[in-house]
Amino acid sequence: MRAVVYQKPFDVAVQEVPDPRIEHPNDAIVRITASCICGSDLHMYEGRTAAEPGLVFGHENLGLIEEVGSGVTALEPGDRVVMPFNVACGFCRNCQAGYTGFCLTVNPSGFAGGAYGYVAMGPYPGGQAEYLRVPYADFNCLPLPAGTEHEADYALLADIFPTGYHGCVLAGVAPGDTVAVYGAGPVGLMAAYSALLRGAARVFVVDRVPERLAKAAGIGAIPVDFAAGDPVQQIRDATGGGTDKGIDAVGYQASAAAGDHEEPAAVLNQLVQTVRPTGAIGVPGLYVPSDPGGVDENARRGLLLVAIGTLFEKGHRVGTGQANVKRYNRQLRDLITDGRATPSFVVSHQLPLEQAPAAYQKFDQRVEGYTKVILKPEAASEVRTEIRR
Ligand SMILES: NC(=O)c1ccc[n+]([C@@H]2O[C@H](COP(=O)([O-])OP(=O)(O)OC[C@H]3O[C@@H](n4cnc5c(N)ncnc54)[C@H](O)[C@@H]3O)[C@@H](O)[C@H]2O)c1
Ligand SMILES: [Zn+2]
Ligand SMILES: [Zn+2]
Repeated sequence: MRAVVYQKPFDVAVQEVPDPRIEHPNDAIVRITASCICGSDLHMYEGRTAAEPGLVFGHENLGLIEEVGSGVTALEPGDRVVMPFNVACGFCRNCQAGYTGFCLTVNPSGFAGGAYGYVAMGPYPGGQAEYLRVPYADFNCLPLPAGTEHEADYALLADIFPTGYHGCVLAGVAPGDTVAVYGAGPVGLMAAYSALLRGAARVFVVDRVPERLAKAAGIGAIPVDFAAGDPVQQIRDATGGGTDKGIDAVGYQASAAAGDHEEPAAVLNQLVQTVRPTGAIGVPGLYVPSDPGGVDENARRGLLLVAIGTLFEKGHRVGTGQANVKRYNRQLRDLITDGRATPSFVVSHQLPLEQAPAAYQKFDQRVEGYTKVILKPEAASEVRTEIRR
């Protein structure tokens, strides 16, 4: 089958790789109809992780069940399903408590948590490909209504809609809150959208990419351009001293407020300044214990200079970590089905799988309005079926 394969920093190629097959009675094979490119893929794409050449990318996957193992009970060929980016067993202590992002059994490296197509997250090739093997399929597949309706909305249930929502849960966003979201990438936009769904009174979204800030304004959030002035001051002025809650949807590759250099703790420190005393901060943005491209020796070891003194003084609560997608995906699916949520406003491009190399490049550079890309492998399989005939 065709798949997006990591070659070297800033280089992915669409190549022929072996078809996945049922390896365990609980596996299913899914024929992928939509697989998104994520900001998390960019950390690998830019060579800012230990990802090795040959890795098949793609952890945001939706498709049709092609084949099920003998132990799968709730799924049949033809069912439309979306998979959380987390691979989870369903029976370990963390899965049972709802922390499927920290599954204790699926990652042989001993790290808590597994994912498709991601460095250090277990032996699970990604779904930017024609087919995907899904372990523990009954647990990891969320059934969707038949047909193709809401395809772009449902595809976002694999990661960014639940992850944005998780940012709000980590920060405890409640009705009437003021909320500051740093980052207007897909995760930040979904965090802002979720905050409004949860009844926030005012939501500020900080970035400097015009198309992304426009999308924030489009959902009723207040865009804050950090290139036009200190975002902390802009938000503190607008709220009379700070927001109730804050969300970091940027992570360790944050740009410094002024200029183009990277400052890995910039957003964490801005949040400490932006959120009022006794407020809370949710951090879905990614931080890593080792970063080959870190700005200095400490950053390379995942050690950042965070204003813990001010954080303590202000009594902030902080929540971090991978989103436990399964904890929210059923509820968010039903908001989409019932017409109460339309997260696909973030999707800027839907492209054939073969166009992945250019799509990665443009999404990485945040140019031409590339905000969220859905890759469609179907076109490739149709061509192949034609050739076989
Ligand atoms: N916790 C999870 O489960 C989870 C899931 C998905 C993604 N993530 C992480 O969330 C982060 C965001 O993902 P994304 O897909 O939206 O990525 P993205 O790279 O598309 O978006 C990041 C945005 O942050 C902006 N930015 C950079 N520095 C900034 C600053 N100082 N202030 C404000 N904005 C700034 C950029 O301009 C960009 O628009 C990434 O770190 C990603 O790895 C985490
Ligand atoms: Zn993702
Ligand atoms: Zn588990």
